[in-house]
Order: sequence, then structure tokens, then C-alpha cells
Amino acid sequence: MDLKEQIDLSRLPKHIAIIMDGNGRWAKKQGKLRIFGHQNGVLPVRETVETGAELGVKCMTFYAFSTENWNRPKVEVDALMSLLVTTINKEIKTLQENKIRLKAIGDLKSLPAKSQVELQKAIDATSSNQGMTMVLALSYGSRWEILEAAKAMAVQYKNNQINLDDFTESSFNASLDTYDLPEPELLIRTSGEQRISNFLLWQLAYAELYFTDVLWPDFRKNDLYKAIIDFQKRERRFGKTSEQLQDL
Ligand code: IPE
Ligand code: IPE
Ligand code: MG
Repeated sequence: MDLKEQIDLSRLPKHIAIIMDGNGRWAKKQGKLRIFGHQNGVLPVRETVETGAELGVKCMTFYAFSTENWNRPKVEVDALMSLLVTTINKEIKTLQENKIRLKAIGDLKSLPAKSQVELQKAIDATSSNQGMTMVLALSYGSRWEILEAAKAMAVQYKNNQINLDDFTESSFNASLDTYDLPEPELLIRTSGEQRISNFLLWQLAYAELYFTDVLWPDFRKNDLYKAIIDFQKRERRFGKTSEQLQDL
């Protein structure tokens, strides 16, 4: 039986978040510059998005650039930013064909003006698409996002728009960049690293974590299928006992 047939389409994770890692090592293994790895990381994004959309996954978030990635050598940061512009431009067609809505999370104002313009164009062009939501995490850091949400709520409190009782999980959730997305149920990280690297710290509270040694430029359809199959074998207890879940 091929991998796709092993997936129970009625129990798909609603939101899959992906830490696309290993581009630099992939390039280095071939004696190439790190940017060659980033360039080859574009195709797996397209394949993963198309595969997810075809299966019926509602939302996929891709960690493309972290707040900490600004500390990389300037040549690499510049190359990543220009790759972002050209890629978004080229991919609008694929997004439209697959009825995918694009969204971005992160400190977008810190991106170069050209990247912001191209990104906004793609977001606007796809805003009425009713299929999957593809989220790009750009200049994204979870601690930054949480602090921004806390500040926004503090301002409302100061202006007497909300009371202390209004500081709830759901109102805080609504103040995050991900306010309109379902909670990520599956987190995939490639390249063998087993850490979160400041990604969706609040939102991943109950996500299933899946780590694979595959380097991002090598990630293909079957790797996504494997992650989903693994997810579907997990028992998600949310603090309860296994027996309680079986009684349902
Ligand atoms: C992930 O690959 C892409 C970004 C962080 C932008 P890396 O560039 O981190 O590749 P490695 O981890 O050095 O191999
Ligand atoms: C995480 O990868 C960020 C992205 C994939 C965009 P990194 O390669 O930057 O993470 P660390 O530094 O190894 O934790
Ligand atoms: Mg890395």
C-alpha cells in the first residue's frame, strides 16, 4: 500500500506547522554556498503546499525566517530577502490554481520595503481564496509575538477598554498574529534538530512534534505523508487518561 493510502482523511491535522531546516548543510555537503541550499528549498515548499491542499489540510505554516536569523552574515540575509521577493512573485500562480490564501506572521515591518510590497501583493491577490491557508512566518519570533500581544492588551487595559478579567486565554489568543488560524496540531522539523527555535511557543502547547533527519531541500510528498501517518498513530490525551478517552 502506498503511503498516501495509509492516511485517514477524516483525521487530518487541521494545521501543520513546519520548521524548514537544513538548507545550509544540504548545500555544504555538495561543496556549494549556503544560498544554493535556500534556492533549493523553494521547490519543497511548493510540493508540500500542493500536497497538503490536495489532502484537505486547512492550514500550513512555514517558518521561513526567524527574528534571530537577522544575526546571520549580511550576504546570506540579503540573498534570503531577494529570494523571498522573486519566489513570492513566481508562486502567485500556483497559489491561485490551488485556491490557496496567503498570510504572513511576524515583524513584517522589519523586512525590506520591496519584500513588504511583494508580500502584500500576493496576500491581496489571494485573499478571497477559499482553499487552504498558507502562512509564511517571516522575521517571526514567538517571544516577540507574545510581547506584542501583551503590549496591545496592556494598552486596552490602560484606556479602560478591558478589565483584568478580560485577560483570558481566548482574548490573548485573539491578540496574537495567528488569531484567525486553528491551533497547530502537528509540528514538523527537518534536518535532525530537535528544538523549537522560538516558533509558535504559545500555539504549540498541545501539538504533536515530529522530527525527521531529511534536510529541507530533500523534503518531498512522501515525507509529508510519513509525518501525517505518524501523527495519526499518536494518542492525544490533553491531560486526560487513556481510559477516559476510550470511554468517549
Ligand atoms: C533553514 O536552513 C533556512 C533558514 C533558517 C532561513 P538553515 O539555513 O538553517 O540550514 P542549516 O541549519 O544551517 O543547515
Ligand atoms: C529555525 O532554523 C528558523 C527557520 C527555519 C526559519 P535555524 O536554523 O535558524 O534554527 P537554530 O538556530 O538552529 O535553532
Ligand atoms: Mg538551521
